Formats: sequence, C-alpha cells, structure tokens
Amino acid sequence: MASETMTNVPVHVSMIMDGNGRWAKERGKERVFGHYEGVESVRACVEAAVENGVKYLSIYAFSEENWNRPQEEVTALMGLMVKAMAAEMKKLDRNGVRFMVIGNRERLGDSLNRTIDECMEMTAHNDTLTLIVFLSYSGKWDILQAARKMADDMMESPQKREEIESMGVEGFDRYLATAGIPDPDLIVRTSGESRLSNYLLWQGAYSELLFVDTLWPDFRKEEFRAALEYYSKRDRRYGKVK
Ligand code: FPP
Repeated sequence: MASETMTNVPVHVSMIMDGNGRWAKERGKERVFGHYEGVESVRACVEAAVENGVKYLSIYAFSEENWNRPQEEVTALMGLMVKAMAAEMKKLDRNGVRFMVIGNRERLGDSLNRTIDECMEMTAHNDTLTLIVFLSYSGKWDILQAARKMADDMMESPQKREEIESMGVEGFDRYLATAGIPDPDLIVRTSGESRLSNYLLWQGAYSELLFVDTLWPDFRKEEFRAALEYYSKRDRRYGKVK
C-alpha cells in the first residue's frame, strides 16, 4: 500500500538502535526492560520494510564494545536474542524473510550460535527481505579480519599476489563480513546521538545518515516510514557533480 506512493525506496536500510536504557530509565525500570521493548521496534521495522519494498534491513544489535557492559546486561541481552530468534523465526520464514547474523561469532556462546545457524538455514531460500543482525560486530573488526584474509591469500602464490594487487575496491569488498550484501543506502541512528560508533565504516562511505531524537523503543512503523520519506528527498551525488 505504502510503496504505491513512495518513490526512490532505499534497497538497504540500516538501524543503529540506541536509547533503550534511557527509555527504561524514564519509566523507572531496569535497562533490560528497554531492550525487551526494543525487540517490538525491530518487529515493527521488519513489517514496515516489507510493506515498503525495502530489500535489506540491518540492525546493529550488539557491538564489539558492548562486551564491556556489566556482565548482567550482556547475559540478559544474549538471552533476549536467543528468545527473540526462536520465537520469531517461523513467522519471518512465512513472510519470506531471510535471516542473517554478521559479526565475530567466536565470541558468542554455543547456544546462541546454534540458534543462529538454525535460523539462517531455515530462511536461506527467502528473498522478500533480508534481515541482517550485526552481532558482536564493529567496523574496525571487519576491516581488520578482511585485511588478514587478504594477506593470507597474497602468500598463497605470486599469481594470487599479483591478482590481489591489481584488484579495486570491489575486490576488497569480497573479504568483508558483508560480502554480497549491498552497502547501506540509509543509516538511521535513534536517540539524538550523531555518531557511527564503529559501525559499517567501509560500507557506509556513501550512505545517507539520519539522526533522530526518538528513542529506539519508540521507533515504530510511522518513524520508519518517515525515514524513507527523508531518504526519498536526498540527492546522492557520490562525489560527482550533477
Ligand atoms: C542500545 O540502547 C541498544 C542495544 C545495545 C541493544 C539492542 C538490542 C535489541 C533491541 C535486541 C534485538 C535483537 C534481535 C535479534 C531481535 P542502549 O542500551 O545503548 O541505550 P542507552 O543509550 O539509553 O543506554
């Protein structure tokens, strides 16, 4: 319905979900309560993305830096992810959503990794929307792991070295954890903070950035749609003159 009126819909929308703790605090509740409510916002954004014809929706669910939060909060967040994935997966699958997790999975526990693998396998054939959860992720981690893999490949043979030395930006893209996923057209950060916090540093080179005051648990369909409206009015020049 909405896609009938929307022109210039972004292919890939990415969300830096921020403000859960403050949202809970404003209500005199524990921070984790804000994370629970934040899952409802993820659900709303997935629905809105499908309704508006967005093909990739990604969310920054847990950064490498977030491991430094109090153990209690980290445990609660990991538990929440397992629960949310297990509870939502069948519905996502029915709606044609392909589910992916990208990040340093070595740091995730066995139970979470098992759930992630099951969900990714179950939904691998879907193509209405790809939902990417960035988990234990950071932009610098991604660039570093890509550089390491590339260096390993260079050592393989003189031919391989020559091939890598002559490749362009797209060649490096293939080493990133996001290989095969289009760069985000729009990155939205909630809660009034205007920074990237080590997110998609390479992939976001030409993304439109939108910083909104809304706290993540209040960011629902209407707010998602407003972000798409904002994007549809942008003039992307990629460094060129139009
Ligand atoms: C930022 O708010 C939010 C997070 C670090 C976690 C968000 C994670 C979810 C909502 C889980 C969703 C995951 C799935 C797979 C459904 P904050 O805690 O930094 O808030 P603050 O800035 O107000 O303290």
